[in-house]
Amino acid sequence: MSNPPSSTSPAAGEWSLYAKKIKKVSTLKELEKIEQELFGRKNGAMTIAMKKLKDLSPDLRKQKAQELNKIKQELIEQLEQLKNELETPSGAILAKSDSIDVTLDLPQKERGHLHLIPEFIRHVEEVFGRMGFDVARGPEIEDEKMNFDLLNFPKEHAARDAQDIFYINRKAPADNKFLLRAHTSPVQIRYMKTHKPPFRAIFPGKVYRKDADATHSPMFHQFEGLMIGKDITLANMKAVMIETMKELISQDAEFRFRTGYFPFVEPGLEVDVKWEGEKKTKEGTWLEIVGCGMVHPNVLKNCNIDPDKWQGFAFGFGADRMVMIKHQIPSIKELFPGDVRFLRQF
Ligand code: PHE
Repeated sequence: MSNPPSSTSPAAGEWSLYAKKIKKVSTLKELEKIEQELFGRKNGAMTIAMKKLKDLSPDLRKQKAQELNKIKQELIEQLEQLKNELETPSGAILAKSDSIDVTLDLPQKERGHLHLIPEFIRHVEEVFGRMGFDVARGPEIEDEKMNFDLLNFPKEHAARDAQDIFYINRKAPADNKFLLRAHTSPVQIRYMKTHKPPFRAIFPGKVYRKDADATHSPMFHQFEGLMIGKDITLANMKAVMIETMKELISQDAEFRFRTGYFPFVEPGLEVDVKWEGEKKTKEGTWLEIVGCGMVHPNVLKNCNIDPDKWQGFAFGFGADRMVMIKHQIPSIKELFPGDVRFLRQF
């Protein structure tokens, strides 16, 4: 049965016309007009409809009253909401429709963070970037030629021992063997072969040696560095080493330079930094974190750089050890656990 609109007993259909009308309202004035039409004391459609209820039989009255009240409530709500919107500045309405309340104080969610090593390497790249150094990377699988020969290691050097090196069981050309690089120094070779001096660059990455105790891990991280020019000296190298340690470990880092031997530099130096040590003693202990020196003329020649025209320094820092000193971590193993709870504190 259809319900033609009537002034005495408006049907649901008619009320929905009001709802539609309200939706089209765009000013407070129009809103008031509709409010009057509906709820005006004398002639409001809803007011009249409510009054008419008393003419119905008690049963019907109850049912109709319920229906009408529901509709009335909905219309009132619709009007209120619209009123609120029209009264608030437009920016606030936008925020509302975005439904993000930026003032809401939500409980803090636990968030992950970068592992200490990549975080540290990013810092390294930033610090050297400020000193004008380029960043380059090389492969982790190298061969004896790259890891040793071109770096001026004699054929019989002890570092080539299978007890220290992870050789790879893959057929290699005669007189050569594949291996996991034991240091980032092969990237020096790759860089020098493909770039014309002057240049300065760092080479961060993973390296592998058969070693495991509190300060050695079979996989660890180094960042190699190289600076070649016409008049680069050991004094420049010392300045860069000191700046690096202060920036990356601490301004108060205590360190010492010692002479050291590496076939690919001459002279060679090593730097130790004071560390609490595995046992965390007050006196602490020295931990070697870098090997460095002036690039050996043979290495420059191997890369087609004329050692009579060019000179400079190279260095290789142990990133994991620097992180250990910086955060007073007693063992390198803590950096690579299966259970990451230890790392969560940083
Ligand atoms: N490659 C050396 C090491 O792993 C470090 C080093 C790099 C020393 C560059 C001198 C110059 O121990």
